[in-house]
Amino acid sequence: MKINVVTIFPEMFAPTLEAGVVGRARRNGLVQVEVHDLREHTADKRRTVDDAPFGGGPGMVMAPGPFFAAVESLAPPPGSPIVLLSPQGQVFTQTHAERLAQEQTLTLLCGRYEGVDERVAQHLATMELSVGDYVVSGGEIPALLVIDAVTRLLPGAVGRGEEAVGDDSHTSGLLQHPQYTRPPEFRGYAVPEVLLSGDHAAIARWRREQSLRRTQQRRPDLLAAADLTAEERVLMREEG
Ligand SMILES: C[S@@+](CC[C@H](N)C(=O)[O-])C[C@H]1O[C@@H](n2cnc3c(N)ncnc32)[C@H](O)[C@@H]1O
Repeated sequence: MKINVVTIFPEMFAPTLEAGVVGRARRNGLVQVEVHDLREHTADKRRTVDDAPFGGGPGMVMAPGPFFAAVESLAPPPGSPIVLLSPQGQVFTQTHAERLAQEQTLTLLCGRYEGVDERVAQHLATMELSVGDYVVSGGEIPALLVIDAVTRLLPGAVGRGEEAVGDDSHTSGLLQHPQYTRPPEFRGYAVPEVLLSGDHAAIARWRREQSLRRTQQRRPDLLAAADLTAEERVLMREEG
């Protein structure tokens, strides 16, 4: 998979893209991330990317020209997603990550200042994604979140024994069960006995129950769409 990023702060990416699962996926050739400086696609000597908003108001708006020029020079395959990171977009979920991980090429556009001229959202980007209902100063950290969430879903990106992607919160539509490691007792806090029992069926049952209860307590909104057996649905209704 190839991921293009367009930003005025390319230097924000290298350290994060070298570490952990994403770093290894890049080194193993599973994903190629190219970070492009938006200012390379400006038409003036001062490499201007922004201008005052039409209609007045505070701050500066990122002009459409450099974004269009950058994407045209990258020439992503027709139909491939061009994502504008924006607090006004659809809230990014595991389902988006799963869909994007199927693509050969993904292009991420990072805004700054008061945001990006609307014509980028309307006529260049194929979708807008938000990382949550809050505003950060730029699209770079949101883009890194998307890169990480997508990359870890690429086959082979997450090593066996390190993590099990399929078991993660949100992958099954539920939150994951609680996790414990050694020591079995820490400062008087004991690990649930079933986890030390060696009884794999009992452990699987306990984990499933914990996952259901935790989701019901913390994120009841997720339960409606989750894949539950009829018996589990009845149990959740009784306990809810
Ligand atoms: C300060 S924000 C601009 C917010 C804009 N004035 C508004 O109210 O919608 C600057 C840039 O940060 C990025 N950004 C901010 N919050 C975001 C979020 N929740 N999700 C994705 N991108 C975000 C976007 O690229 C945005 O263009």
